[in-house]
Amino acid sequence: MTEIIDGNAVAQEVRDGLGDAIDTLADAGTTPTLATVLMSDDPASETYVSMKQDDCEEVGIEARDVEIDPDAPADELFDTIDELNADPEVNGILVQMPVPEHVDDREVLRRIDPLKDVDGFHPENVGRLVAGNARYKPCTPHGIQKLLADASVETEGADAVVVGRSDIVGKPMANLLLQKTEGGNATVTVCHSRTEDLAARTRRADIVIAAAGVPEMIDGDMLAEGATVIDVGINRVDADTDKGYELVGDVAYESAKEVAGAITPVPGGVGPMTRAMLLWNTVKAASLQTE
Ligand code: GUN
Repeated sequence: MTEIIDGNAVAQEVRDGLGDAIDTLADAGTTPTLATVLMSDDPASETYVSMKQDDCEEVGIEARDVEIDPDAPADELFDTIDELNADPEVNGILVQMPVPEHVDDREVLRRIDPLKDVDGFHPENVGRLVAGNARYKPCTPHGIQKLLADASVETEGADAVVVGRSDIVGKPMANLLLQKTEGGNATVTVCHSRTEDLAARTRRADIVIAAAGVPEMIDGDMLAEGATVIDVGINRVDADTDKGYELVGDVAYESAKEVAGAITPVPGGVGPMTRAMLLWNTVKAASLQTE
């Protein structure tokens, strides 16, 4: 039987597990606080940010909601980041990506105080991750590591294929799988849009992590019997529904499920874990800042 990996359940465990640390912080007079900064009118980004804020409230993290007109000059965002960096009550800062085209996104990531960079995207934090000394692990790959551990999927010695080379998921995922510590020690292959014969590589994999942003690109024919399949994709495709679209992953779920040993669904797999690990990083940020 194929195991359906329940991201909602594991995310709930992560949130429950934060209770003690939040109580300890409260005893020291600190309420962990996350500032979310949204400079976009994209409905998907608006939804993601509001879900992150709801998650915060649920576990006792204070959410500061900052919205910036997407037509405002870039300096308005940079000044806001400077103010949040200087505010001792703010422990974590998340600028929802993507930002408008007239804003240099690399400068946004550099501008955030690395100690408050709960996404783990600042070059200092990226460097620490690559060096095997992560401060904040990026939320999606960190969440996937937790899902694999919870499903007792052994990464040590496993052939892991990461499909996608984004800064947010593919690259940090590959680095985490390479680490010499638990949840790492895999033999890692990173595939992308220029990879020749993708199927030949995914068919060899014990673990496939699909994070290319291409709807249903990995199907059962591309998998080894019993492989663990982690689907990071959330793609809107036109469909005859009330909203006019439906969400599908990067994995063709029905065909992959026939072959896989374990698989994450979309929704209800990786997505809830990404959000849970943001809370984790925010609590860690508050702890680091109250030491
Ligand atoms: N946009 C899509 N995913 C993310 C994420 O993990 N963090 C931020 N800040 N923006 C995103």
